[in-house]
Amino acid sequence: MDKFRIIGGRPLKGRVSISGAKNSALPCMAAAILTPEKVTLHNIPYVRDIITQRRLLEDIGATVLTPELRTHQISAAHIEIFEAPYDLVKTMRASVLALGPLLARFGKAKVSLPGGCAIGTRPIDLHLAGFEQLGAEVKLEKGDVVARAPREGRLRGAEINFVKATVTGTENLMMAATLARGRTTLNNAACEPEIVDLAELLNKMGARIRGAGTFSIQIEGVEALGGAEHTIIPDRIETGTFLIAAAITRGDLEIRDCRPEHSSALIAKLREVGVELEELNQSTLRVSGDPELSASDVTTQPHPGFPTDMQAQYMTLMTQAKGRSAIAETVFENRFMHVSELQRMGARINIDGHTATVDGPVQLTGAPVLASDLRASASLVLAGLVAEGETSVRRVYHIDRGYERIEAKLRAVGADIERIRESVTAPLHGQETDAAIA
Ligand code: EPZ
Repeated sequence: MDKFRIIGGRPLKGRVSISGAKNSALPCMAAAILTPEKVTLHNIPYVRDIITQRRLLEDIGATVLTPELRTHQISAAHIEIFEAPYDLVKTMRASVLALGPLLARFGKAKVSLPGGCAIGTRPIDLHLAGFEQLGAEVKLEKGDVVARAPREGRLRGAEINFVKATVTGTENLMMAATLARGRTTLNNAACEPEIVDLAELLNKMGARIRGAGTFSIQIEGVEALGGAEHTIIPDRIETGTFLIAAAITRGDLEIRDCRPEHSSALIAKLREVGVELEELNQSTLRVSGDPELSASDVTTQPHPGFPTDMQAQYMTLMTQAKGRSAIAETVFENRFMHVSELQRMGARINIDGHTATVDGPVQLTGAPVLASDLRASASLVLAGLVAEGETSVRRVYHIDRGYERIEAKLRAVGADIERIRESVTAPLHGQETDAAIA
């Protein structure tokens, strides 16, 4: 397994380009199952989860061509298998996004029930309850979810009220409803930008979706969907990670090819703590200066609130801010795995239930640390960039799941970071010991 070796203390200077959003590319790739025609997706990030999703599509019989690295041409004309096996689902929970499209187009689907993961139990009960409301019969058989459309072979539109916001739950049911008979309304739907991006692709394919990005989404079912071409939105979490990387190293960094409006809660919070952050245009942000940072509390919320996927990275920044900050994690039950590693680097953090309090500023010192999940890994890399001396972050396959060549991007703007291969090849499809999370 690879590790990163980082020598801290170098301010990041220059320009970095943001890649496509993993959490939009994954549902958009699954959406290609809804049609026998070709779906072409541009700006796909070159990350491990995409490789896993591609393998899933090919395993069920779709063909995936990549005329260039970040363009995927998917054709699901000859689907022969209607299931996502455990060995794939256990490495990437987003495989459950195959459920809705398979059920909607073929009337049947079998997907291994994803186990828990590093950050929580991650049930999919809201997905399954929604499919039943669309008329499907859903059973659990030996660890697999087996879903079948009603006898007439087609799902029926319904009014679905989510008891809590679920991103992939909203995506799964939105995709399933595109081919159902009649109208489906999703209430208390998740509002993430990735859901809006998926709805845009589905509508290009001939779906009739209104309200994506709001708490209520209406889908008028159609008989069939066709091919389309679509460019994936930039990754707002990669954007946020580089904003914090620039702030924490007191650098001067331009972050390009991003969508500032997708990160408004984070941008507001960073400005509140004193980060000098400019929007140069609608796709470029700039962080510069060497301001004294002040502590500020944050509570993670579904979009448009402060994103849970930025909680760990923000915590690292707060170790450099003056005062005490309380960071409350309300979305997942166990998303403080980075705390013990940050404490090894000298951070002063206390956990009380779902809230971590951070006292700063402290001078972090480099140490060997262990990545546990995708975003925790990012917080440890950020800590290494500002720590005194050498930090080695082990098990960086976690970070490779959601960040495209992060060490190359950081090195290009002045970071002293290198990847050290600890074995010939890290397991490509994540036969890693920790269950997948994203
Ligand atoms: C998506 O996960 C993202 N993954 C996560 O990003 C992100 O952290 C999360 O949304 C929240 O924003 C992808 O989009 C591939 P949820 P998802 O369903 O959809 C509970 C990353 O780092 N819940 O919105 O799985 C659940 O346990 C990853 O890129 C149920 O109880 O998250 C959680 O507490 C990590 N029953 C809360 O809802 C369900 O049926 C929100 O989960 C579904 C969810």
